Amino acid sequence: MAVNRGLEDVVAAESSICKVDGEKGRLIYRGYDIDDLAENATYEEVVYLLWFGRLPVKEELETLRKELGANRALPKELVEEMKKWPKHAVPMEVLRSATSLLSMWDADASENDRSANIRKATRLTAQLPTIVAYWDCIREGRELVEPKPEHTTAASFLYLLHSGKEPDEVAVKSLDVALILHAEHELNASTFAARVAAGTLSDMHSAVTAAIGTLKGPLHGGANQEVIKMLLEIGEVANVEPYVKKMFAEKKKLMGFGHRVYKVQDPRAFHLRKMSEELCKGANQMKWYEMSTIIERLAKEEKKLNCNVDFYSASVYHVLGIPRDLFTPIFAISRISGWTAHILEQLQDNRLIRPEAEYTGHVDLKYVPIEQRKEVATAK
Ligand code: SDX
Repeated sequence: MAVNRGLEDVVAAESSICKVDGEKGRLIYRGYDIDDLAENATYEEVVYLLWFGRLPVKEELETLRKELGANRALPKELVEEMKKWPKHAVPMEVLRSATSLLSMWDADASENDRSANIRKATRLTAQLPTIVAYWDCIREGRELVEPKPEHTTAASFLYLLHSGKEPDEVAVKSLDVALILHAEHELNASTFAARVAAGTLSDMHSAVTAAIGTLKGPLHGGANQEVIKMLLEIGEVANVEPYVKKMFAEKKKLMGFGHRVYKVQDPRAFHLRKMSEELCKGANQMKWYEMSTIIERLAKEEKKLNCNVDFYSASVYHVLGIPRDLFTPIFAISRISGWTAHILEQLQDNRLIRPEAEYTGHVDLKYVPIEQRKEVATAK
């Protein structure tokens, strides 16, 4: 039996949601190139596109926006619980746990048909940003304000995060584009986790909880937090080269670089690089952008590595004034649309996902009573 470590090159599902062309560096959501969507669409249009397979007409978009707006508030009991949680809890833990708890208040919790799952997907897409923003307010002792139904996802998140201060247009637009770029990416690890959970006919909240836990790791969505940690550690443009060369000499992984599928530049990085340059310039903090471009050049020259979605998003969020440990939760509040689209697709033609392992352990050991055991047969 051939073993593909990390399931590399294994095709595990048919899907019409997203194409990642790793050779050409193209990303397509339901037929639309990410460049086109990043330039012209809104995040809510992309959510509709991912769930229903086509762009919405005006009334359909308006209905989705209204439904998202009407569902952003969290159950009061959940907010009261969150206030009791340890203030040092990291936001991804809080997001994972609060998402899991949300199912207890969800009117469709025990239903698994398509219309109930679309309602649940809508509620989760509306509620996740509120959890992240509220947690930052709770742990920092800021006021919790009610969401405004007329806000978009990006505006609502920033408004709630800043306790009712209306966000400026540049910040809302930048976050909206970042949400579009992170919304979907085929069978990445967290989406695969969501499909595995959904494939057992478990419920949508369980599948999304599994996905959040999977996104958290630094080899996946957690990398954006590691990137800003690295930039802060480097501190100044002059320190970049020795820092990166030392990392390579010590064979350490450079966070925000490399990708399982892309052999050329990640197309999302093009947009995030541009945003990073504009925002850093606007905020008079060009050093983050300059340091990033030097790291990018060195990674290419020395290791032939391209940056991925997590690299420039770090300086974008940093300059927008977002705390470091909210970077991965922001990835999640966007990717919820892709996760739920995949759960809906999985359930349309479901078969349990159950691969096999090539066994490499013992087969001929005999049970020895504990009094007679002299040495432990070490499991391989
Ligand atoms: C995301 O798949 C998706 O779609 C994910 C994602 C999405 O939208 O959902 O695109 C989002 O998760 C982006 C990736 C974020 N993670 C990081 O930035 C962490 C750093 N990157 C890596 O650890 C790595 O590149 C992975 C995890 C992204 C990919 O891992 P693979 O495919 O298992 O590749 P590998 O680790 O086996 O690397 C292959 C070679 C190795 O060298 P050799 O042993 O063959 O000599 O490339 C080297 C690696 O050492 N390499 C790196 C490197 N990435 C790969 N060397 C230094 N720094 C790196 N970042």
